Formats: sequence, C-alpha cells, structure tokens
Amino acid sequence: AATVTYNFNIGWVTAAPDGYSRPVIGINGQWPIPTIEANVGDTVVVNVQNNLGNETTSLHFHGMYQQGTNAYDGPVGVAQCPIAPGSSFTYTFIANPAGTHWYHSHDRGQYPDGLRGKMIIHDPTWEASLNIDQQIYLTMSDWYHTQMPTLLATQYLSTSNLVGSIPSPNSYLFNDTNAPLKFTFQPKKRYLIRLVNVGALTCAYFHIDSYKMSVVAVDGVPVNPSSTDTILVCAGQSYDIIVVGASNPTSSVQYIVKMSTDMLTSDFPSASSTTIIGNVVYLINGLLTSLITGLFSAITTSWTASVVLDDYTLVPTDNLALYTNPTNKIHYATNQTYFSGIGTRIMVGDEPYVEPKVPSLFTALTTGTAALNASTYGPGVVPHILKSNEVVQIYMENSQPYPHPMHLHGHDFQLAGRGAGSWDGTDASLRKTPMRRDTVTIPANGYIVIRFIANNPGVWFFHCHIDWHLVGGMASTIIEAPDVLQSQQSVPVAAQGICSGVGQASSGN
Ligand code: C2O
Ligand code: CU
Repeated sequence: AATVTYNFNIGWVTAAPDGYSRPVIGINGQWPIPTIEANVGDTVVVNVQNNLGNETTSLHFHGMYQQGTNAYDGPVGVAQCPIAPGSSFTYTFIANPAGTHWYHSHDRGQYPDGLRGKMIIHDPTWEASLNIDQQIYLTMSDWYHTQMPTLLATQYLSTSNLVGSIPSPNSYLFNDTNAPLKFTFQPKKRYLIRLVNVGALTCAYFHIDSYKMSVVAVDGVPVNPSSTDTILVCAGQSYDIIVVGASNPTSSVQYIVKMSTDMLTSDFPSASSTTIIGNVVYLINGLLTSLITGLFSAITTSWTASVVLDDYTLVPTDNLALYTNPTNKIHYATNQTYFSGIGTRIMVGDEPYVEPKVPSLFTALTTGTAALNASTYGPGVVPHILKSNEVVQIYMENSQPYPHPMHLHGHDFQLAGRGAGSWDGTDASLRKTPMRRDTVTIPANGYIVIRFIANNPGVWFFHCHIDWHLVGGMASTIIEAPDVLQSQQSVPVAAQGICSGVGQASSGN
C-alpha cells in the first residue's frame, strides 16, 4: 500500500458560491477545498498548519475506522485539543473502509464556514465489479452568509432562543456552487455518482429527471443494488449511485439534477418561497404526505417523485446477519430544554454534552477505567464503557417533532430497527440482515435500534450531525475496551493535556 500525503495550510479566503461574497475557511488559499483520495489500505498523512489567526481548528475524517489511531480521529475534547492558530498537527491513519466519505473540521460549529470536503477511498476491485465508465463526485450542502461564531452567539446559543430555533440557510449548493449544474450522460454509459451531504442542517432529496438511480453503497457500505427515483440524504450521509445514460441514437442528452429540502419546515424559508439550486429546485412545504412510515414528508410536485428510497430496506452485499444477544444496552431518549440564563440545549439523554477541557482520550489513557465511570468526569460527558468485542446495542427514542441524523465515529453499525413510536424490545421486529452505515436518521417521534461489535478500542463520539445540535449538546462519548486501548495506544504530545487554545471557539456552554 502507498502513503498519500497532503499538506493543508488552513486559512481564510473569500468566496461567493451563491453570488454572496464572504470569508470562508479554505486550504492552501483555495476554496472549495481539495478532495482527499486514496486506495483502501493506504496510509494517509495530513499535515495541518492552522493559519486562521483567530480560530482554532481540527480535522475529522468522517467514516474512517481509525483502528489503532484514535488520536487522529479529530473531535476536539474527545480525541484532541484544538489546533491553536499558528500551530500544526499531523494526522496519520489507514484509509479504511473504502467508500464515499468526507472530511471536516470537528472544532465546535466550524465546518459550515467551509472547512468540509470530499474524501474518496477507492476499492479498485469493487469499482471494477460495477463496470462503470466514469465517476462523478458530488457534494450537496446548505449554506449561510453569516459566519458560524456570529450565528451561534447571536442566534442559536443566545439566551433569547427559547425553543432552539436554528438559523435558516441562505442557499443550497451542489459542489459548492448554486450555479446551473448539468451532467452529460452518454448513451448507455454507466456513471457512478458519489454523493455526500456536507451541510450543517438540511436533509435534501436528490433526483435526476427521467432517470432511475441504482443505489450500490451507503456511507461506503456496499449494498445489493436498489433502484429508485429519489433518495433523501441527510447531513453526514453518503450514497453511491449508478446511473446509466439513456439510449439515444443521435446525441447525448442533458438531464436536470434537482435537490429539494423540506425536512424541517420551521427551519426553512417560508412556504411560498422557491430556492434555486443548480438548475431547478423546488422548495416544498405544506402538503405532507406520509411516505416512508411517517419518516419523511413527501415531495409533492415538480417531479414525479413517487418513491423515495427507504434506506432501512437495503441489504449489505455481505449479507451479515443481525448481531444478537447484546451484552451492553445503551438507552437514549432525546430531549431539548431551556436553561434559564444559559439558553436552549439539546441532548441524546439526560444531560447536554459539554466539551471537557481534558480530551476524553487523554483521560482514558492516563487516569484509567475507574475514573471514567465517576461523576467527577462531569455532567453530560460521562462516557459509556464497552467491553472488548461485546455486542453493543443503542436504543434511541426521539420524542421530538423532527428527525436527527445520528453519527457514530469508528464504526459502521447495523440499523437493526427503526420506526414510529417505541420499539417493542424484541428481535422479532428487527431486520434479519440489517444494512450498515455510519450516519442514520432517527425519525421524528420515532426510534432507532443500532447494533455493533466493540472491536475498535477507542473513545468514540456519538452525535447528531446537524451541527447546530452538536454544539447544542446532542452528543455522548463511548469508550470501547479501555484496557486494550491503554495497552495499545498513546496520545501524540500535540494532543495532550488541558485544552487552552487562543480564540478557541470551544468555550463550553
Ligand atoms: Cu462527520 Cu463527529 O462527524
Ligand atoms: Cu439533531
């Protein structure tokens, strides 16, 4: 396997992806930022120099297992201290698993200011098996005109935000532009579209006029091909889709790609507005038809979107059976609360997550297992301890009227169960061959049951990928096999100790 090295000088640049010029966080003076590409099994080295001047930073390689390299996972307060302005940090990890992934800042609320990009880990064998002629890389994203620190301070985290209202995006982008986006599909050629939602908030529908799409992977996990008209992609999720150019004896034909948003009506522009993204995008409000067991509201007009793929029905190509008899059962019930004098906070369980001043990985490696259970660890950050190689279940209930894309670091997990209301607690109501992914949407007023094997010693973050909700506390940490972790890994000096970066966005609640 090869070593692939990137030198990233992170700094402010000016960009106008939707015509509105603003400071964005670029790399090596450029924005959009580079795509990271490697083959599965390669060693990836990313040398980061923080030249932002006024903000700390970090990078997370979303979807990577980071097996044996927990210290390079990226989340500030979990795996490392933030990289201070003027400082550097080198991430080194194995490119695994293959698939369509992305990388982004994991320093409090920072990535929506532009520090998020594609990361494609190639599996040449798998790609050859798809018999494709061309690959197309595509991001979709909501976009704000105002920088995140201002939006957080004056709106989302403000004490006058009584109900956790999220600022509305100003526009929506494909590949970091809202300019017309067209693909030319040659007759009968096969295209692999690698699509990832790098947004801060918005789940978006993806549809290509007059075309069927065949989904062949989700979050990098190959699945039995599933044909659909439209998919729904939430923040943090990726889809690999095969599209075959329509037969046309005389010429190539252009087809319009559409993105539409209507997941959280209160968070989007009013019902009467239409947002133009790419060529044509219809913002749909109002008519909410039950589409996938009440999970998502329907596309109502504008294209013949009769069926949106239900990712719950996908089956991984390896046909891995449901993990049974979990010995570690975690239960979460989401809630959102207004704290007088603080503001609204949102949580996966009883307490909003508060970023600890000592990164949890550092504590796990130095203080030992006993301390990790103690309440002295701090409210909202008491981690769940998993035993090496046990079967773990997270049963999560969401009593809120909106969905959340929940992401687990270090793993693909089985989506064993999902539905409205509560789970009946039996394996009989779970999938027998569940699909796996790393970011799954929990329905409004519904639940998910996920299972995985604790086979990756480390401190892993579990959180909502709506970046507002992450900042608002909707996260927890899971410490997997701390005994093995302590015998295997150490923390690089640059990540050690008490975090005290200058201009740290991460000032706790
Ligand atoms: Cu895409 Cu915790 O991250
Ligand atoms: Cu959320």
